[in-house]
Amino acid sequence: LASIDVDLAPVAEGQAITVTWRGKPVFVRHRNAKEIEEAKTVNLGDLRDPASDESRVKKPEWLIVVGICTHLGCVPLGQKVTDPRGDFDGWFCPCHGSHYDTAGRIRKGPAPANLVLPPYAFTSDTKIRLG
Ligand code: FES
Repeated sequence: LASIDVDLAPVAEGQAITVTWRGKPVFVRHRNAKEIEEAKTVNLGDLRDPASDESRVKKPEWLIVVGICTHLGCVPLGQKVTDPRGDFDGWFCPCHGSHYDTAGRIRKGPAPANLVLPPYAFTSDTKIRLG
């Protein structure tokens, strides 16, 4: 299927779900206030692949990224609350140790680029269409 609809209503603040879109894992994270604040207060000059938090989300509380490490394609950990999330509270790729922040930006380790943003749109307050 080219497009899929995802209901965000069941995803509580601080939780995340993984959906499959075009054969790829897509991470949907309901960010809490601390995670949003961390993402916004980064100095863009410190980033390997500079991008503001605003440019990576459509609504601050929802971060939606393709869940594939931009190094060599492993699926990073961090979707479960009990997962390691790395040094920047986002995701940690166990294959070679890349750390992503709460906006999915690469912060440490070998990955060259931020987690990719899939095309999507909000179709209501609590629903998105991916693709
Ligand atoms: Fe993620 Fe290498 S594939 S760090």
